[in-house]
Amino acid sequence: MTPPRAPRRALLLACLGFLVALGLSHPPAVAAPASPAAASTVHSTAAVYDVRSYGAKGDGSANDTPAVQKAVDAASAAGGGTVLVPAPGTYKSKNTIHMKSRVTLQVDKGATLQGSDADTYDPPESNPNDKYQDYGHSHFHNAMIYGDRLTDIAFTGGGVIDGGGSLITGNPKSGEADKIISLTRCDGLRLGDGLTLRRGGHFAALVNGCANVTSDHLTIDTASDRDGWNIISTTNVTVTGAHIKANDDALVFKSDYALGAKLPNGHVRVSDSYLSAVCCNALMFGSETCGDFTDYQFARIRIEGSNKSGLGMVSMDGAKISDVHYRDITMTDVHAPITQKIGTRKRCGNDPGVGSISDITYDNITATGSSPSYSPTLWGEAGAHRIRNVTFTHVDLTVPGGNGTMGTGVPSNDPNNYNPNSIGTRPAYGWYLHNADGIAFTDSSVRLAADDGRPAVIANSASSVKFTRFTAQRGGNAPYDMGFQTVTGYCVADSHTTSGGALRTSGTGSTSDCGAPGTRYEAENAASSAGSTVDTDHRGYSGTGFVNTSNVSGSYVEWTADAASAGPRTISLGYTNGSTADRPMDIAVNGTLVAAHVSFPPTGDWTAWRTVDVTVPLTAGANTIRTTATASGGCPNLDYLDVPA
Ligand code: GCU
Ligand code: CA
Repeated sequence: MTPPRAPRRALLLACLGFLVALGLSHPPAVAAPASPAAASTVHSTAAVYDVRSYGAKGDGSANDTPAVQKAVDAASAAGGGTVLVPAPGTYKSKNTIHMKSRVTLQVDKGATLQGSDADTYDPPESNPNDKYQDYGHSHFHNAMIYGDRLTDIAFTGGGVIDGGGSLITGNPKSGEADKIISLTRCDGLRLGDGLTLRRGGHFAALVNGCANVTSDHLTIDTASDRDGWNIISTTNVTVTGAHIKANDDALVFKSDYALGAKLPNGHVRVSDSYLSAVCCNALMFGSETCGDFTDYQFARIRIEGSNKSGLGMVSMDGAKISDVHYRDITMTDVHAPITQKIGTRKRCGNDPGVGSISDITYDNITATGSSPSYSPTLWGEAGAHRIRNVTFTHVDLTVPGGNGTMGTGVPSNDPNNYNPNSIGTRPAYGWYLHNADGIAFTDSSVRLAADDGRPAVIANSASSVKFTRFTAQRGGNAPYDMGFQTVTGYCVADSHTTSGGALRTSGTGSTSDCGAPGTRYEAENAASSAGSTVDTDHRGYSGTGFVNTSNVSGSYVEWTADAASAGPRTISLGYTNGSTADRPMDIAVNGTLVAAHVSFPPTGDWTAWRTVDVTVPLTAGANTIRTTATASGGCPNLDYLDVPA
């Protein structure tokens, strides 16, 4: 996401002295979505409707749905309120509860709302678009709780909504339910605050066509059943503190054709969460991928187990997936740590084409574990449907290995299938790239749990593939380490085997250099305004520390950087901003303001280091580069200045 090199017109402008191109090389980890989620449901002054007052028994056998429904209806009639399912008690719910707008369903700690096998739930509605997605995705009425076109609703409390082992994981018969919470076209949903969804059948929660969803501390415990939470064709979502154990997909973003339209997806933040999946994918895009997906940030997520992908992303039905960022994620026992695939299934109404995947970043990701493996893979389609602009920074993967030597030709592929096993055994153990352009690995590595006869990396039919400070373990009988097959512009710089030896490269296509390395100037060696300190209390900085200025406007750090020749350079400033406000700075070169109020947005945490790139004019020889806070928060914590050669 580094801005492109300044074009010639820009050079002219630079001569005029004022060109500034600004870009964020990495967006903040978990800053608020672009259009913030609507205020979550506020019912603090609204009345409480205790289901016991409406006749609920909570004795584990009487059907309490009629009482819960009366409480929901009463709250709704009053303009909104909280329906309380009080502790202690197990409230058997044998019919579908029809949720209403401006109602909060609060299940208190020690209370359980429990499903039943009486086959008395609402029957599934008919859907003319049934053929485009699985049965469970096409029918919404047959759930423990259902609602369509609701606004400002919430499911909260420290208690449990439990399918009770009665919900169906396959295709339900009429009267059977296959999900706990089923919502279409909602606006303003809050889900969590200690709530647990247990044994959810096909889906613990299924939302489709919603907007403005917030979830904090939601637990889903459905490893005995099927999916955790499916978030379909939904925008403006913030999930924090989720703990999801699923059998199939744990947390998944999809876009199907169940509502009869291709709908947009995006502006999603997920952080500080735990995900595990038994059979399938932990954190997934697809397979249903009709509408486009953009602006996703995932940070601080632990993934334990998934027999398909840990971080999976497929575009099967025409979706353009872009601007997705993963950071600070650890994975253990995943069969395919990272997969991206473009397929040509086109299972979507409205004549879908073939989709695309672009502008995806992975920062600070580790995967270990000895599960059977599908090599980490980026698989694009030909023509305009290649994978574009994907960067891996500090991505360290240990894969099982254990394969013999094999041919290095392109493996088989079923373009209608999204599973990692739809592509034959990859001829590389570490990374296999196919039909991909603009792929960069920096400070990353692949290692083997057991010896393997394949190269570490093969890129096939690709362009601009860079490996900088890449470490690869050598497979004992591997013919070479890094294979480039018909790759235009590949480079391997400052990269080594795990024992420090040179990597053996085999290539057809053309090499490039990885870009002149340039020079890093650490902030701790720069001048700074009075009151600044060199600190070390937030890990992840470069060099021996970072500069923490006083939190006042006018605080500054000033570097002295050399340039071999005069001209524009895109410099990178490494920083963190763990506050919730922007910390804008003016940038002056040799005393002349060249960029005013450059934004240094929140990074989510003081340990979440980012870079901001700015193109500035430099003179030959020494230049002073000063960054001065223009707002009362002072400078962000500043780590370094990188100046290209
Ligand atoms: C915190 C943080 C500092 C930071 C400061 C600030 O105190 O630990 O590293 O500089 O906030 O707001 O600037
Ligand atoms: Ca400070």
